[in-house]
Amino acid sequence: MDNKFSRRSFLYSVSMLAAGAAMPIPVGAFGMKKKLRVVLVGTGVRGTSFWGKRLVEQYPEILEFVGLSDINPGRLAFAKEFMGVDCPLFTDFDEMVAQTKPDLIIVTTKDSTHHEFIIKGLEANIDVLTEKPLTTDEEKTQAILDAEKKSEKNLIVGFNYRWSPYMTKVKELLHEKSIGDITSVDFHWYLNNHHGASYFRRWHGLKESGGTLWVHKATHHFDLLNWWLDSDPEEVFAYGDLEHYGTNGPFHHTHCRPCPHKSECAYYWDITKSEHDMNLYVENEQHDGYLRDGCVYRPEIDIYDKMSAQIKYANNAVVNYSLTTYSPYEGWKIAFNGREGRIEAWLDIPFMNNTNLSQEELHAAEMDQTRKDDMMYEPLVFHKNFEDFKIIQVGSERGGHGGGDKRLHDKIFANPNAPDPYKHSAGLRDGVMSVLVGIAARKSIESNQPIKIADLSSIKPSADRT
Ligand SMILES: NC(=O)c1ccc[n+]([C@@H]2O[C@H](COP(=O)([O-])OP(=O)(O)OC[C@H]3O[C@@H](n4cnc5c(N)ncnc54)[C@H](O)[C@@H]3O)[C@@H](O)[C@H]2O)c1
Repeated sequence: MDNKFSRRSFLYSVSMLAAGAAMPIPVGAFGMKKKLRVVLVGTGVRGTSFWGKRLVEQYPEILEFVGLSDINPGRLAFAKEFMGVDCPLFTDFDEMVAQTKPDLIIVTTKDSTHHEFIIKGLEANIDVLTEKPLTTDEEKTQAILDAEKKSEKNLIVGFNYRWSPYMTKVKELLHEKSIGDITSVDFHWYLNNHHGASYFRRWHGLKESGGTLWVHKATHHFDLLNWWLDSDPEEVFAYGDLEHYGTNGPFHHTHCRPCPHKSECAYYWDITKSEHDMNLYVENEQHDGYLRDGCVYRPEIDIYDKMSAQIKYANNAVVNYSLTTYSPYEGWKIAFNGREGRIEAWLDIPFMNNTNLSQEELHAAEMDQTRKDDMMYEPLVFHKNFEDFKIIQVGSERGGHGGGDKRLHDKIFANPNAPDPYKHSAGLRDGVMSVLVGIAARKSIESNQPIKIADLSSIKPSADRT
């Protein structure tokens, strides 16, 4: 495997900086600057909170923001204030890079634009860290692969779900081959009427912006599968349809605030109740027309709201996967069938869990970076053939994607050289393989044919990812 997929130079520079925090390196020594110079493009909710305010507050000794960029000047100005930084603002990304000469570019724009900034960064020999999904189609995927090959620098993909203690426990059991080789998997993810609907209110509802939820959302799930199974996916066959949102609604309007159907619409959402959303989005609509409270029944919505796929892996495991976007509850279930037993895991299923949060509060809690939850214990079932099942209780948190968010940050910025026995760190190959499953599913629905992953990029699937 090409060792360009490692994160060597970026991690080297970050580890030097982290060491410098404890034992200061004189500015300019070894050509190193004292702090990592970071710029961020895309000052929406994810950029300003997780990759913005949280980094500013948690790693002041390690990094500094030297530039922020977005096409919306109003949102940029709000981002600067919200993040508590004092750096120049740019509506032109190229100008930002030329003027600030960063060590790291963080990409948190709309999904379909990630490739532009990733490629420009790598071509300028700057390390890049991108939010998921890596990108939205196979041509852009290949362009990123080509740029990374030519660059001296590396790309990190921010897969936060892997890092939660619950997901890690599943990985540990599989890695130890506690139920033997895995032959088949059932994996089902349910987005509730609040979280699921939120994708249909925004740019995510358009295929050209988010690549459909096969890519935008399921990239998380396919990355987990690839990592858990420790194999590349080989072939995908899928079905999908739009049967609930879009033109399936009884009425529609542009967005919720002026809508004449407020009183009769189950999906009416009053954005004016959220001061943060008002400051980030509504106050800046005049610059780009981005309506954060868009109608879930807009006729232009062209993504799927029910999705089902069969995925065959290079190691011969087969997966049944589904994604539902209008479930009464939010949660997921997985079952691994191994040659020597079975593991069943799930999170948030209300009738299998004790939670005092409403369905509306659940997603907000998951995204919250400030929550100080008590440790919760989440069960999973471990069942060896010809033996009694065991319930394993896994301690985890709810906030910041089950504790995954902060562990990802610490590994990248604070402890880059910490041992990584379960291979949590994700690079370009992981980003590519997870989006290609979703892209293949989309192409399979469009062609009614199985799609081979090998036909979508220059990377050939391997049964052994080590
Ligand atoms: N890992 C996770 O759990 C997670 C959670 C939320 C979002 N995300 C990812 O973060 C990214 C941002 O999502 P968000 O929810 O913050 O969206 P958002 O709509 O709040 O923000 C996107 C920002 O990008 C800007 N933008 C769009 N096109 C641009 C361009 N060409 N140049 C510069 N700026 C541009 C917009 O003006 C906006 O400010 C997405 O890729 C999304 O998939 C990841």
